[in-house]
Amino acid sequence: MTILLGLESSCDDTAAAVVRHVEGQAPEILSSVVAGQAELHAAFGGVVPEIAARAHAEKMDHCVEQALAEAGLALRDCDAVAVTAGPGLIGGVLSGVMCAKGLALGAGLPLVGVNHLAGHALTPRLTDMVAFPYLMLLVSGGHCQFLLVRCATDFTRLGGTIDDAPGEAFDKTARLLGLSQPGGPAVEAAAQSADPSAVNFPRPLLDRPGMDMSFSGLKTALLRERDAVVTLHGGLPEQRRADLCAGFQQAVRDVLVEKSRRAIAAYLDLAPADPVFAVAGGVAANGAIREGLQALCAGTGTRFLAPPLRLCTDNAAMIAWAGIERLRLGLTDGMDLAARPRWPLDTAAAPQLGSGKRGAKA
Ligand code: KG4
Ligand code: ZN
Repeated sequence: MTILLGLESSCDDTAAAVVRHVEGQAPEILSSVVAGQAELHAAFGGVVPEIAARAHAEKMDHCVEQALAEAGLALRDCDAVAVTAGPGLIGGVLSGVMCAKGLALGAGLPLVGVNHLAGHALTPRLTDMVAFPYLMLLVSGGHCQFLLVRCATDFTRLGGTIDDAPGEAFDKTARLLGLSQPGGPAVEAAAQSADPSAVNFPRPLLDRPGMDMSFSGLKTALLRERDAVVTLHGGLPEQRRADLCAGFQQAVRDVLVEKSRRAIAAYLDLAPADPVFAVAGGVAANGAIREGLQALCAGTGTRFLAPPLRLCTDNAAMIAWAGIERLRLGLTDGMDLAARPRWPLDTAAAPQLGSGKRGAKA
């Protein structure tokens, strides 16, 4: 039996969790505490790194105490302390790493540094005990990439966005149309009562081979369409706004579905015994996008897996779990564990031109 305490502080969620795993059985999340900071950053229209770092330093102790209390355990009952060591906003990552070092040193426990993206990518094994290799689409406000997960330490990046992440595009769209933040749910709700073909948006990079994507042109197109509507109507009528939302959402969906089709084909070439396509990240909550991906999987004999939203978005249970996977492989870190603002999962892949300009949140 292995029990890990996990810590996460790479963006604007301070989180601590305890996960227990008995070999051959389903892992158990004994507790998962997430303290968000949305109210601290709301006035600034984005995450302010310095404010985030201070808040992490203040909140982490409480989150750890609460996570242990909810699990009914003491720190010495844990086998190790896992912590996000990057990528992310450096002040936040540092405060998590320092806290984890203190806890590990004080309790005489091993320390395990975890890549935040590996936490997301390994979540299907925490929730559904999925076997390697599987395909993952990580699609959030800061990231968009296809990962071939071969084992707990081997991730191949098949492709991803070369500019904005889709969540970022949803958020900007909401801002341009006067809708609330976060933009994804607001745009999805507005799109419900509209015709997705009323406004035709571009589908960037669909005409090119490969699995790379681009979403920054979509917001420029949206701005143009919005201005045309405003000029025509002297304002933005409710129905026209809904049509813009529906058209935009449809374009994102079409790009994600077509690129996923190619990624699944590349993955199926490996002839996995039980093919699985998993999604993670806030955008995976979008009903239309989910439906499109689900239908695509059904047509290719691939199991579609979407972990519950609380485990798709930033949390520490995924860090504790990734820590368990590393510990099992004998991978621990010393007190020299470094906090890394940038830390690509696939070091062999070509450097990305840009992904998630909004920040380092993954
Ligand atoms: O994974 P997440 O919580 O944090 C980041 O890593 O960014 O994802 C948040 C992003 C935001 O950009 C938000 O607008 C988007 O996910 N999002 C959605 C939906 N719910 C959240 N995008 C589209 N449709 C949704 N229903
Ligand atoms: Zn994340």
